[in-house]
Amino acid sequence: MKIEFTLNGEPCSVEAPAHINLLHLLRDYVGLTGTKEGCGVGECGACSVLLDGKLVNSCLVLAPQAGGRDVVTIEGVRGADGGPNDLQKNFIDHGAVQCGYCIPGMVLAGEALLAKKLNPSRADIREAIAGNLCRCTGYQQIVDAIEATAAARRDTRQPQSIEDAKVHEEVL
Ligand code: FES
Ligand code: FES
Repeated sequence: MKIEFTLNGEPCSVEAPAHINLLHLLRDYVGLTGTKEGCGVGECGACSVLLDGKLVNSCLVLAPQAGGRDVVTIEGVRGADGGPNDLQKNFIDHGAVQCGYCIPGMVLAGEALLAKKLNPSRADIREAIAGNLCRCTGYQQIVDAIEATAAARRDTRQPQSIEDAKVHEEVL
């Protein structure tokens, strides 16, 4: 069947079997492999994407359920220059990335939180990433990176440039 949706701000139309999940649609039919498969059963968060702005496990979403909706994957999270955005840079700067397998999902969980709340407590951040498992970092640095991004975004309040504003809207 044909599945049409918005992917990272662009229209996307894909022919795929109706029984596959959104994770496999993205990886195997669209060719975006930033979204990772861990458990395949909704336990690890490696496959997290934003669906209409809400964090979901794409392994639990049937591909046709994305029809007509807005999907953001890690490939859609970028700075104005096309490189890492401020949250991704903070993950790097805080040593929050080791093997990296969980990081696409962690970044999207962070963006989903910061879209709703720019003054999260550490408990809020921990709750926001509660569905995202990391076997490497111990989580501390990931919480630090999201906390630092929230503080910086609060300080600037306004996006630093029109381009940043556009990217922010696209990402969130
Ligand atoms: S692969 Fe989807 S939650 Fe683990
Ligand atoms: S950095 Fe390895 S699983 Fe999180």
